[in-house]
Amino acid sequence: MKKVLLMGKGGAGKTSMRSIIFQNNVARKTRELGPTVSIESSEVQFLGSLSLNLWDCGGQDVYFNNYFATPNHHIFKNVEVLVYVFDVISAELDKDIHFYQTCLEYILTYSPNAKVFCLIHKVDLIQDEERDKVFIEHRKELQVRSEPIQIQAFQTSIWDETLYAAWAQIIHCIIPNITALERNLTNFCKLCGADEVILFERTTFLVIANAATIKHPDIHRFEKLSNIIKQFNLSARQQSHSKSMMIRGSSFTSFIDILTRSTCVMIIISDPDITPAVTQMNIAAARTHFE
Ligand code: GTP
Repeated sequence: MKKVLLMGKGGAGKTSMRSIIFQNNVARKTRELGPTVSIESSEVQFLGSLSLNLWDCGGQDVYFNNYFATPNHHIFKNVEVLVYVFDVISAELDKDIHFYQTCLEYILTYSPNAKVFCLIHKVDLIQDEERDKVFIEHRKELQVRSEPIQIQAFQTSIWDETLYAAWAQIIHCIIPNITALERNLTNFCKLCGADEVILFERTTFLVIANAATIKHPDIHRFEKLSNIIKQFNLSARQQSHSKSMMIRGSSFTSFIDILTRSTCVMIIISDPDITPAVTQMNIAAARTHFE
């Protein structure tokens, strides 16, 4: 059980992102969410034996003051990851940073090994051409204000795939034995004669790992795939996300199939000598190994 603290000022978008990534909510429905009262803690079964204990901490001032005033500061204990969400168009950035730094002080005391992720959120509200500049400025400021803690920062929005890029990285740092998993996936990719193999968690469709024998030009393909497959599943009402699929392009064939109880795999093959039946057999043969 890994504890993930989700913090940030009220209305920053914490519950929205949690409900989209972990509860199959859609972006437009997040407008109906009310403010979180104190802390909403939920357990998400992730990979195999890995479960996430998500603490969505209401961000109104009164709650922050309670978190800091609780005598034993239990909120900040045993934290694996702190995800701090900043509203990019906040009118009170100084106050947001003040709360953030106070949280970091408690994290340093009670969970000194916790990883810290800062999400500069709602970037859809900024003009396209300004986004990178605004993000870099925020990241720089936060890096300085976070010392001695090393942070990772992402720009995110619930309206595009950036949310998946950030959460895939967050999850990646929690998964145990990730190196062994990546090594096995590389072997599997070579054995299948595939261009690329991508492993997704089955309910969130976050990318867990990938292996490739070619260099792909689009570095954002993973989060795009997560977003597209999730939207497809939701619109097709395939709540179990369990269908296998084969897509034939002009120069490649792509397969999406269940690999284990908690993962799906996508395999891209461009070698015309490798028939779909062979790839499907390879996936079937790999199941017990990856389970
Ligand atoms: P508290 O529970 O009060 O701490 O707030 P919260 O951080 O959980 O905010 P919540 O998720 O309830 O979102 C507040 C509002 O922001 C909702 O109307 C969401 O639709 C909106 N919102 C969330 N994420 C985004 C985003 O990326 N872009 C835009 N434009 N709006 C967003």
